[in-house]
Amino acid sequence: MPAGRPRKPRLRRSGRQPGPPPAPGVTFAALGVAAALVAVLAEDGITTPRPIQAAVLPDALAGLDILGRAQTGSGKTLGFSLPLVARLAGGHTMACRPRGLVLVPTRELATQVQAVLSPLAAAMGLTAAVIFGGTPQRPQVTALRHRADIVVACPGRLADLIGQGHCHLGDVEAVVLDEADQMADLGFLPVVRQLLEATPPEGQRLLFSATLDREVDVLARRFLTRPARHDVDAAAPPAQIVHHLLTVTPADRAGVVAALASGEGRVLIFTRTRHGARKLARQLTMAGTPAAELHGDLAQGARSRNLAAFGSGEVRAMVATDIAARGLHVDGIGLVIHADPPAEHKAYVHRSGRTARGGAAGTVVTVQTAAQAAGVRALMRQAGVTPRAAAASPGSAVLRSIAGPPARRTAPVARLARPAPAATHATGRGAVAASGGFRGRRRPGRRG
Ligand SMILES: Nc1ncnc2c1ncn2[C@@H]1O[C@H](COP(=O)(O)OP(=O)(O)OP(=O)(O)O)[C@@H](O)[C@H]1O
Ligand SMILES: [Mg+2]
Repeated sequence: MPAGRPRKPRLRRSGRQPGPPPAPGVTFAALGVAAALVAVLAEDGITTPRPIQAAVLPDALAGLDILGRAQTGSGKTLGFSLPLVARLAGGHTMACRPRGLVLVPTRELATQVQAVLSPLAAAMGLTAAVIFGGTPQRPQVTALRHRADIVVACPGRLADLIGQGHCHLGDVEAVVLDEADQMADLGFLPVVRQLLEATPPEGQRLLFSATLDREVDVLARRFLTRPARHDVDAAAPPAQIVHHLLTVTPADRAGVVAALASGEGRVLIFTRTRHGARKLARQLTMAGTPAAELHGDLAQGARSRNLAAFGSGEVRAMVATDIAARGLHVDGIGLVIHADPPAEHKAYVHRSGRTARGGAAGTVVTVQTAAQAAGVRALMRQAGVTPRAAAASPGSAVLRSIAGPPARRTAPVARLARPAPAATHATGRGAVAASGGFRGRRRPGRRG
């Protein structure tokens, strides 16, 4: 059981007011970050805390529970990673009993968070392991047995491993819920609650999201003690994004998206369904813009390869379902296209937030049919966005002005990713929800 924190009452409602904003020009060291961690950050060229980091770090390093909201791309990952490793440094972890836990909604985000955490953890003599479904569990169990200090996990597989006796959360001193509002939604809530229940109540809890709304109250009331609330940046999505809304006929939709994706920049395109993602990737590829796919009908290996190909620039375009909407950071995405409008305004904020990260410029285009217009108008209003609206067909000048100079067309090539055979490894219900994966018969058209 972790030492150093007083026992706390189970039901807490009051939010603690954060301290005054930090002085401009403040450094990580001045915020209390250990020199070894400052050195790791400096190796990555990270020398000045972002506003959410400057706001959160003093309270988080002091061990307070945190509710942190800041724009997409604003550096929340370090906002929780630094206090997490600082807290665990110098302690002892037993086999299969991690002391730090980060819960995230998707496998790709788990991998990304672990990549950020690992060098920081290593600098403090700690190790971090990932746990998620769709891949063999044996290496994950081995990492736990080898006394991984921190686990970055999708809830379903972690619950599976706990059920099998491979992991115990009774020594967890700090829990992070990244994308906390999604972790509190109905798909995740039961298993997230079960996991939190398994951690000691006096542990530190840090909840972060760009859209930290009332949905988290159900978790905050039950599991947080007088959390320090830090709400940075009023505008979500980031104010520097230029938003377009194009109305098309259903027949013109793919042609309009292909024209938008034909520029030289990196473009991420969202569809509502897996089937839609696969089909649109094929259409773009046939139109001369090779496009990777990212959705739950792909085996994890293909998901990882395709994301890597997009990240490395091997392909400029990627078509994804909402499994890519939250948290994923790929450098230099200049354009996000909602080829299907998102289901609700928070999905609009997170999908759109894959561009314009860290203050960069970015463009977001929503493609709608007339039949979708009323719903899109409502979600734009809720997102606080006033788009530049126009009707468009594949030859419209507005498309070239958004896409920029055309990239050299590539002869049609085979798609990068093929749907894989159904997953052979048990993943558990939560993992299915977590990753967009599925078991059993493939059902084209499912979301995720
Ligand atoms: N202090 C900093 N200085 C420079 N770059 C930073 C700093 N902090 C974070 N970054 C970089 O900013 C990018 C975005 O950070 P991060 O992924 O943590 O954003 P986020 O707030 O979690 O976004 P999202 O809401 O989409 O999950 C990363 O590439 C990260 O390395
Ligand atoms: Mg994030």
